[in-house]
Amino acid sequence: MHSLIIFASGRGSNAAAIIDHFKQNGKAAIALIVTNNPNAGVLAIAEQQHIPFLIVDKTSIKETLLIEQMADCKPSLIVLAGFMWKIPGTIVAAFRNKIVNIHPALLPAYGGKGMYGNHVHHAVLEAGEKETGITIHHVNEHYDEGDIIVQARCKVQANDTEDTLADRIHVLEHFYYPRTVEYLIG
Ligand code: GAR
Repeated sequence: MHSLIIFASGRGSNAAAIIDHFKQNGKAAIALIVTNNPNAGVLAIAEQQHIPFLIVDKTSIKETLLIEQMADCKPSLIVLAGFMWKIPGTIVAAFRNKIVNIHPALLPAYGGKGMYGNHVHHAVLEAGEKETGITIHHVNEHYDEGDIIVQARCKVQANDTEDTLADRIHVLEHFYYPRTVEYLIG
């Protein structure tokens, strides 16, 4: 069976969608959840689902110990699901082509440092875009610049707020992310 590691910082709805998907089809197990946020919703999910987790800080995320703990899981893929810190180059190098991220916009637009969560939706609304979407991409040393794997689009409605747009984006994410991970692990 495939093993996955999930990195998440927030509510964890994408992590939950991936956990549910693979619980149902049995093609992968979540070996580890990593978060930088001791209050992240994803930790309640980890506890409920009996998935081991690690809380990292700015120092421990750069230590070899984390890479060793990750390698012990023999992950087929490392899945960033709303992880708000940059992944250190040492981790990218240790797991090259094995790390994927989901971004709540159509990259290369609305990507880069500071562009996460509702900041992205705010910028999309400010710019008067008629359309936005999601991008699932490989992770390299640069923010939001790895090769694109999948993009999916949705309309921006005239009366959208950051929250209504975030909800529409989450629906797309919860459908496409688990299926893309499954496709990638083969
Ligand atoms: C998701 O919309 C994801 O695309 C975004 O954070 C949200 C996390 O939601 N990620 C980024 O902005 C990364 N730059 P979740 O915690 O409910 O999965």
